[in-house]
Amino acid sequence: MSGSVVTQPAASASIVPRHLAVIMDGNGRWAQRRHRPRSIGHRAGARAVNVCVDYCLDHGIEALTLFAFSSENWQRPADEVGALMQLFMRALDREVDDLGRRGVRLRFIGERGAFAEALRQRMDRAEALTLGNTRLQLNIAANYGGRWDITQASRRLAEDVAAGRITADSIDEAALASRLSLAELPAPDLFIRTGGDQRISNFLLWQLAYCELWFTDTLWPDLSRETLDGAMADFASRERRFGKTSEQVSDKTIVGASA
Ligand code: FPP
Repeated sequence: MSGSVVTQPAASASIVPRHLAVIMDGNGRWAQRRHRPRSIGHRAGARAVNVCVDYCLDHGIEALTLFAFSSENWQRPADEVGALMQLFMRALDREVDDLGRRGVRLRFIGERGAFAEALRQRMDRAEALTLGNTRLQLNIAANYGGRWDITQASRRLAEDVAAGRITADSIDEAALASRLSLAELPAPDLFIRTGGDQRISNFLLWQLAYCELWFTDTLWPDLSRETLDGAMADFASRERRFGKTSEQVSDKTIVGASA
């Protein structure tokens, strides 16, 4: 019947994010609860990274961006920073070949220059080795901050104006966005933070503008497939409006369909 309205089933858990961004919080508390040094919590956190990567591969998620070390994390006690650097080195030595074989492309975002030469070399090697992979883009934010990212993009715009490559008038959101980290990827559509705090902590500030946010008390080392299933189910149930009205974006009603 012309003009009738057909209601379609609500979104199901088969709707997965294309790009998942994660703040892996709670390693320190996980260790403290076991009366162990914080570095043990980070080591357990590295195992949880594998859980998350496997989950993304199994569910066809195209990109995963993990906040491994913020620009502010240098302020932690020197022994903890040192343990984290050792952990990053060992994880790269151990995991990169296998990740490469499984179709994962690794990239690092952030100011790499602050890291030791040995770690920088491993980062370069990991990126080169996995360059051609397309199954999952795994971005590790290391010495990264959202404000830093917007600042470096602004600096590049200023350099382009100074060199006469673009005019100041031509600068728009797209011009700035194209100079940010991860510019070539779809913006994250789901953000997860473990560990109970509900804040973005200078992660991908620009890129998260329309991202769905999901928080859990689960500490990062306790991450399980069930935790991620919960996040995915919640994501699938959300209506993403991008500033429009519910009616404009809803695909639940199809006007004009035959009954
Ligand atoms: C935050 O927990 C976690 C970090 C600052 C480090 C994240 C690092 C890992 C998960 C290790 C491995 C990562 C890779 C990519 C191999 P926290 O120490 O702030 O925990 P707390 O809030 O309980 O103190």
